[in-house]
Amino acid sequence: MKGLILSGGKGTRLRPLTFTTAKQLIPVANTPVLVRVIQMMKDAGIIDIGIVIGDTGEEVKAAIGDGSRWDARITYIPQDAPLGLAHAVKISQPFIGDDRFVMVLGDNVIQGGIQSLIRQFDEGSYNSQIVLTQVKEPQHYGVAVLRGDGSIERLVEKPRQYLSNLALVGIYMFDSNVFTAVNSIKPSWRNELEITDAIQWLVTHHYAVFPYVHTGWWVDTGKATDMLEANSLVLEELRPSIADTAMIDEHSTVDSRVTLSAGAQIINSVVRGPTIIGENARIVNSYIGPFTSIDSDCVVENAEIERSIVLGHSRIADLPARIQDSLIGRRTNVTRSTTRPIAYKLTLGDYSNVGLL
Ligand code: TTP
Repeated sequence: MKGLILSGGKGTRLRPLTFTTAKQLIPVANTPVLVRVIQMMKDAGIIDIGIVIGDTGEEVKAAIGDGSRWDARITYIPQDAPLGLAHAVKISQPFIGDDRFVMVLGDNVIQGGIQSLIRQFDEGSYNSQIVLTQVKEPQHYGVAVLRGDGSIERLVEKPRQYLSNLALVGIYMFDSNVFTAVNSIKPSWRNELEITDAIQWLVTHHYAVFPYVHTGWWVDTGKATDMLEANSLVLEELRPSIADTAMIDEHSTVDSRVTLSAGAQIINSVVRGPTIIGENARIVNSYIGPFTSIDSDCVVENAEIERSIVLGHSRIADLPARIQDSLIGRRTNVTRSTTRPIAYKLTLGDYSNVGLL
């Protein structure tokens, strides 16, 4: 089996962060979502991994490298424009060849591994297997309608009337017949080659397409609120640890579900878990509440923050109110203004969101 991870796309819904950062490299619990996907594949025994990259390709390459960190072999597959998930499959044919493969969206965060699923597909004779999960509002998703024998009968994008509550999660498995499908379908109204159309083509042409129903949680991290949700769920499952070189002074309280990375310092502060504090981050006279990820080299001083993600090298200091439900980019300063005029002084990128008191 080979692995294919889609890490192109534009990530418009995560602006302004995605002006400077590939969406798949935004961390949850201080680990980029894309790295979680690579680890998940490696845990399932997949070593040969192709990553489809777009405009942010150079940044992805710099962050991931050749894969040797995970004992994997990474091949980068440039996509000129985000012309759809089935287009990404199409351009990956030279890498995949005749092998069976699993394709995972590089911005999806899913509970648990995919080992049993991979084993089932690898040992079986299905032409394709797609991961589905029960959702409360199927009208917002691509859903699958099943036949009596459990196979897929059809796929419907955002159905207006109730057809099924089983939505497609961003994990798909195929054999090489999918290349006939992606070469046969036409672009949709939004000018993309849709993976649902390719799967529907397989179904219509009597290939065996079966579901795998995932029962744990799953988050498609399109928007900032999804990132915070994924961060909370991953932190909840993180086994806490305190690095040998982390330091907690005697005036601080750090509860048991907190992870402190190498060189992190907690001084005169309260840290409640589940929370992770990155390498060499300093927390001084502050409160860090549950479900918070502070990345490496950040400083939080005289401030309170809860259920938030703060990317590396940022400084949060001297705030009169608690920061909550926030996603703060790299090398950002959030501080109190002390010189007159006393006012909110903001330097915000395009498409920023600020909620003031
Ligand atoms: P989407 O979330 O559908 O698209 P996007 O990343 O462009 O985001 P937005 O809607 O906010 O602009 O993409 C799902 C995943 O697939 C994501 O990791 C990007 C990747 N992708 C490709 O690699 N190539 C493509 O042609 C498309 C459409 C997506």
